[in-house]
Amino acid sequence: MTDKKTFYVTTPIYYVNDVPHLGHAYTTVVADCLSRFHRLRGEEVFFLTGTDEHGQKVEQAAAAAGISPQDHCDRMVHRFQDLWRQLDTSHDDFIRTTQERHIRVVQAILTDLHDRGEIYKDSYQGWYCVPDERFWTEKDIEGGNCPDCGRPVVEITEENYFFRMGKYRQWLVDYITENPDFVRPQTRRNEILGFLRKDLGDLCISRPKERLSWGVEIPFDTDFVTYVWFDALTNYITAPGYLVDEKRFTRTWEGAHHLIGKDILTTHAVYWPIMLHALGLPQPKTIFAHGWWTIEGRKMSKSLGNVVDPGRLAEEYGIDAIRYFLMREVPFGLDGDFSKRALIGRINNDLANDLGNVFSRILAMTKKYFDGFVPPSGSGESPLAAQGAAAWEEVGKAAEKIAPHLALAAIWEFIGRINKFLDDEKPWILARDPEQRDRLARCLREGLEALRFTAILLAAFMPHTAARMWADLGLDGGPSLRGTVPGWNGLPEGGRTTLSGPLFPRIEEKD
Ligand code: MSP
Repeated sequence: MTDKKTFYVTTPIYYVNDVPHLGHAYTTVVADCLSRFHRLRGEEVFFLTGTDEHGQKVEQAAAAAGISPQDHCDRMVHRFQDLWRQLDTSHDDFIRTTQERHIRVVQAILTDLHDRGEIYKDSYQGWYCVPDERFWTEKDIEGGNCPDCGRPVVEITEENYFFRMGKYRQWLVDYITENPDFVRPQTRRNEILGFLRKDLGDLCISRPKERLSWGVEIPFDTDFVTYVWFDALTNYITAPGYLVDEKRFTRTWEGAHHLIGKDILTTHAVYWPIMLHALGLPQPKTIFAHGWWTIEGRKMSKSLGNVVDPGRLAEEYGIDAIRYFLMREVPFGLDGDFSKRALIGRINNDLANDLGNVFSRILAMTKKYFDGFVPPSGSGESPLAAQGAAAWEEVGKAAEKIAPHLALAAIWEFIGRINKFLDDEKPWILARDPEQRDRLARCLREGLEALRFTAILLAAFMPHTAARMWADLGLDGGPSLRGTVPGWNGLPEGGRTTLSGPLFPRIEEKD
């Protein structure tokens, strides 16, 4: 039995109340690409996403709708599940924080930490905004008013449970310093090290039920529920089987990569590592915080009415075009801007012109000169094989670094080489001379082989396009490797190719 490490990748669990938007789709799509790439290389993969379902907002929305919070969550969760089905993401599990399996783990952790003296009860003084039902600290309030709604706040003292987080500050600083790939990219790592220069307080991890009842009950004091973040972060260990299947858990957890947005960095890079450390668990490999998308230069927001629905976008332009745009347009980690114009530009230039053209050129000539049959390979060098292998290596390095933009850049460089090869060889001229028939066969064979290789390179990033290329090349199944690297010369001689239409039709820009 092999005890191979699993490549484990997570997205944040999305608030079930939210309407799924481009920002949610972004992280899930990147996690999907990484998962597909590692699976293609024959590795064990566990890809997790899900929804965050406890807390005040859910409680309030349910009350407004006159239904129970659980019924409300059960209705809302479909919006995420349907979107992922529509975008065809390959997650292995979908966790909901209201599931029994999760609640059990959260309560076990609370008991464990409480038994070990890591959680204690204390009284807590703060400023409360009654209409917003929200606590603020002394520094937050503005002239005695709520910084959010501007109404007066009242001073409240209440009992709560606290997690002894503060005493681990130096431990965390040392851990981050010694493990340069733990918090990424570098700018976020610096941000966290900066944050940790100040004293770190203990974390209030409970809410009295009279203020909030929609949460995981504290097992040793049923007057309280758990603070949502303590509950939410734990999802990452519930799903791979913590406390249930220790063997699976250990194998999976060793390969954990958390993908998050930059706004939830502190919870993931401070609270979570300390929670794990206090539990005696190892740290995830990487916490990678990506940037935010603006829409046509403006912040995406409900009030501006510019929230982009990824499902509608995929219907209009195709899933793979959206995947390509999101990953190619912006280096993972930086902020980016989404605009129809930029999307259409990418589709027309990179997808229709570069990839689409090389694909239809080669298949059309194969049809014209060889009736669609794959010509024999013949002897001699394969001028594109080494470049294909180099692209594969670059894609592997980019996937390790979580840099999908670099993977796509390497693939497009290879596509450029294929186009150049055709321009140099000029098969349409060779075809005029019967004495050049062998050379023409070798040239088109090489081109077809390069397309097969491109389909493998693209498989993780643009799975539908890759599958379509594979089928048009007359190949069975889907893009796959023999072994751990894709070989050259994988096309069976005499195989029949078809060109079932352009891969990416050009889009006319409307003003
Ligand atoms: N429920 C918490 C996460 C708990 S994880 C243990 C949460 N949920 S969320 O639904 O509000 O946000 C999920 C993610 O969406 C965050 O990573 C956030 O960065 C991301 N985005 C929200 N707007 C975004 C953009 N405009 N652009 C890119 N990502 C954005 O936070």
